[in-house]
Amino acid sequence: MKCVVIFALAGAAIGVNGAATTTFPQASGETALPTPLVVSGSFDGGMKRYNRFPDTCQGQKETDEAAAMFIVEDGGSISNVVIGAAQGEGIHCRGACTLTNVWWEKVCEDAATFKQSAGKTSYVIGGGARGASDKVFQFNGRGTVSIKDFYAEDYGKVIRSCGDCTANGGPRHVIIDGVVAKDGGVLCGINTNFGDTCRISNSCQDSGKSCDRYTGVVKGNGSSKKIGSGPDGSSCFVTNFTETCSSGSGGNPTTTTRKTTTTKTSTKTSTKTSTKTSTQSTPTGGSGSGTVPLYGQCGGNGYNGPTKCAQGTCKFSNEWYSQCLP
Ligand SMILES: *[C@@H]1O[C@H](CO)[C@@H](O)[C@H](O)[C@H]1NC(C)=O
Ligand SMILES: *[C@@H]1O[C@H](CO)[C@@H](O)[C@H](O)[C@H]1NC(C)=O
Repeated sequence: MKCVVIFALAGAAIGVNGAATTTFPQASGETALPTPLVVSGSFDGGMKRYNRFPDTCQGQKETDEAAAMFIVEDGGSISNVVIGAAQGEGIHCRGACTLTNVWWEKVCEDAATFKQSAGKTSYVIGGGARGASDKVFQFNGRGTVSIKDFYAEDYGKVIRSCGDCTANGGPRHVIIDGVVAKDGGVLCGINTNFGDTCRISNSCQDSGKSCDRYTGVVKGNGSSKKIGSGPDGSSCFVTNFTETCSSGSGGNPTTTTRKTTTTKTSTKTSTKTSTKTSTQSTPTGGSGSGTVPLYGQCGGNGYNGPTKCAQGTCKFSNEWYSQCLP
């Protein structure tokens, strides 16, 4: 079973300290919706692929919330979702939100937009995005966006404070930790005149692009201008940052062990040579009885359902998701 072998290899390339998983998971099924799915409370997508039908992607043309796949109300959360190419604006968070293990296979205008108010924090935990011709995350609200253990590939910027929004301002704070980013630009673009900050730690960008500083403007008052790049000691803070992303590591390429929550006695692993390692492939979490259908979830942090596959084998995908695969 070729796909399983690929999976196991990719698992071995997972970085350290719970850092980003750099392999896109297999979707467990398909869902196409004519309107955005509005989420208040928490939504677990079971790793199904979500698209809009008809397709709402219009490239970089400015669309709005109506073109999104998901709209998340303040305090809501989305986990274990694959977002396909046939949607315009990914996820719109109207307030603070938490996006865990969400994968964007082909970003259209952007992957997610954060609109929460000052004093609130939104979280992106795990997951990944690719094919973003401009931004992955658009930060239009205030407060803080924290991005942890996320993977970006073939993108423009990972996150950008709005350059020229109506009633633009700040401050907006970005925290980036354990992120792996390849074939793209900076991890964050911030407006220093609005008091924005960006703190990057334990991350890699394969051309060393960390932070761009801009002067933000209010819509109608010209365009936002770039005024500098890299850490400056007052708005961009960068620690444990590397250009070496090849190991899949989020900033510590020499370490070869990985923390897991597996209950088995941990065995030594080597990220270089092994195609199968017990710590990488041992599903975590879960305790319920019953069985899991093919492509269903069978493990992951926070998962409490059954772990026994009715068909196939339970394979570790990442910290938050293990899946029954043939
Ligand atoms: C508009 O731009 C001018 C010149 O760049 C600047 O002095 C002024 O503060 C800006 N006003 C707003 C509301 O952004
Ligand atoms: C940088 O890496 C070292 C060694 O892994 C770690 O002890 C330290 O906490 C890291 N710094 C930050 C800001 O995460």
